[in-house]
Amino acid sequence: MGRGVNPEIIPKRRLYTGAEMPAVGLGTFGSDKYSADQVANAVYGAVQCGYRLIDCAAVYQNEAQIGEVLKNLFDDGVVRREELFITSKVWNDMHGEGKVLESCRQSLKDLGLSYIDLYFVHWPFPNYHAPGCDGDSRNPDSKPFSVEEFMTTWRQCEELVRMGLVKHIGMSNMTIPKLEAVLPLCEIQPAALEMELHPSFQQPELFDYAVKHEIQPIGYCPIGSPSRPERDRTAEDVADTQMPEIVEIAEAHHVHPAVICLKWAVQRGQIPIPFSVKEPQYISNLQCAAEDPLTDAEMERIRLADKNCRLIKGQVFLWKGARSWEDLWDLDGTITK
Ligand SMILES: NC(=O)c1ccc[n+]([C@@H]2O[C@H](COP(=O)([O-])OP(=O)(O)OC[C@H]3O[C@@H](n4cnc5c(N)ncnc54)[C@H](OP(=O)(O)O)[C@@H]3O)[C@@H](O)[C@H]2O)c1
Repeated sequence: MGRGVNPEIIPKRRLYTGAEMPAVGLGTFGSDKYSADQVANAVYGAVQCGYRLIDCAAVYQNEAQIGEVLKNLFDDGVVRREELFITSKVWNDMHGEGKVLESCRQSLKDLGLSYIDLYFVHWPFPNYHAPGCDGDSRNPDSKPFSVEEFMTTWRQCEELVRMGLVKHIGMSNMTIPKLEAVLPLCEIQPAALEMELHPSFQQPELFDYAVKHEIQPIGYCPIGSPSRPERDRTAEDVADTQMPEIVEIAEAHHVHPAVICLKWAVQRGQIPIPFSVKEPQYISNLQCAAEDPLTDAEMERIRLADKNCRLIKGQVFLWKGARSWEDLWDLDGTITK
């Protein structure tokens, strides 16, 4: 293979259903910085270069453009549908009775697909904000997490599996207390958990909990999301690509620090979904999973460098009466009301 990576050499992860998915994928959230067409063009290039997993979502507002590109990839004979693993997500404003089916059908239509491989509940509550809003924006209709409301949404996701519209369902932005409350109620278990994971935010308890329950962790912001929107930045945030441990290991391997974040992620066992619209970046982000692994000592050094630094705090989803963004993440071990 010329430009890019042979997808055969990219490691795979096996889900509890027995289905396999690639150990690295491409993110598609343009972070209010890259246009839908730029992201869609990157999807074409990335699939040409060997990517087989694409992480989509209705709220990224680019599924229609990505759908056009997927059609071109199929028409041009670059890839067949069954070789791709496509995810999508129901956004917070589509949780109500009957709405999940509507949202999924829209994503299927936009993406030009007859099924989605893995369909997530993007956030575990129906609180939403306008795309591109600032960090102080609050929706007066926002409410704390409710097991009952979540299960109304999840029951609809289960129905999507039975209808054959999606192959697997997953949860995102969950906590252990929320999982403890809902997993026993699920008729179809989540196959994956999409969660923030990067060297300065390793979430070891939640990661181990997911693995123990045969739920595949998928790591978002795997490079520490250096291009994230302003609303998701605070003065205390750690930049993963500037952590001394990451920089020194990158020097030893003669690669960019971003690549070390991804090697660590793949070797730890989560599936990183790095975003990039730049060909040299997205090629190295894929290739790094198949060559020059980190040593055990390097893996341990990164493990010890965890800073518990959450970047996507979710403060725009807070409800009236909530104290601070920490309330979204059940830090005292029970579901915060
Ligand atoms: N489930 C959820 O709630 C959720 C939340 C957030 C994200 N996600 C998903 O996770 C994906 C990834 O997260 P993210 O986009 O926030 O962050 P990320 O992948 O950690 O960071 C992406 C940025 O890193 C830089 N980069 C990428 N590859 C690089 C390389 N090889 N060398 C140097 N710099 C590199 C690029 O910056 P420049 O553009 O400046 O070059 C790029 O924009 C999203 O696209 C989305 O699909 C899901």
